[in-house]
Amino acid sequence: MASHTIRVIGDPVLKERAAPVTDIDGKLARLVDDMFDTMYDAPGLGLAAPQIGVRKRVFVYDHDDHPGVLINPEIRESEGEWLYNEGCLSVPGLFFEIVRPNRVLVVGLDLDGNEVELEVDELVGRLFQHELDHLDGVLLVEHLSEEQRKGAKKELRKLMMGESARGDDKLITVGGQLQLP
Ligand code: NI
Repeated sequence: MASHTIRVIGDPVLKERAAPVTDIDGKLARLVDDMFDTMYDAPGLGLAAPQIGVRKRVFVYDHDDHPGVLINPEIRESEGEWLYNEGCLSVPGLFFEIVRPNRVLVVGLDLDGNEVELEVDELVGRLFQHELDHLDGVLLVEHLSEEQRKGAKKELRKLMMGESARGDDKLITVGGQLQLP
């Protein structure tokens, strides 16, 4: 098991649509272990494979000590609206108030290849929608209003240049591009 560097906004892998998982095997199980390590080290509530540079449709999460993994997840239904101050390990240091559907019905596979169906709302509903976005190459900044985007322009540019929005320089941007969303 190993913790990986989390890719940061500006890294092209975060803008790509990830490919469906075709083999649920030992290699995938090792990837999932690494994703959990990386998520707990961060720490974060969830992590999608593209955030460690792997273009596969899988994410892990842990809410209230209930860890889970979803492979090839899809949103089947969504309803309502919920406002949440959302952050992302790939957009470190920044949080944005974003409205998304409150409740979602998500289907996917577990590590045994069994189909799972989860109906989740509020924080977990948000988490699933956020991680699913990562699998489609979408970052939370794409959900911002014009005003929020303007307000965060400087900080986002810093992140894309490989600096932290908060000013520490521990973050690494791979293939960083100066390109505002
Ligand atoms: Ni994220």
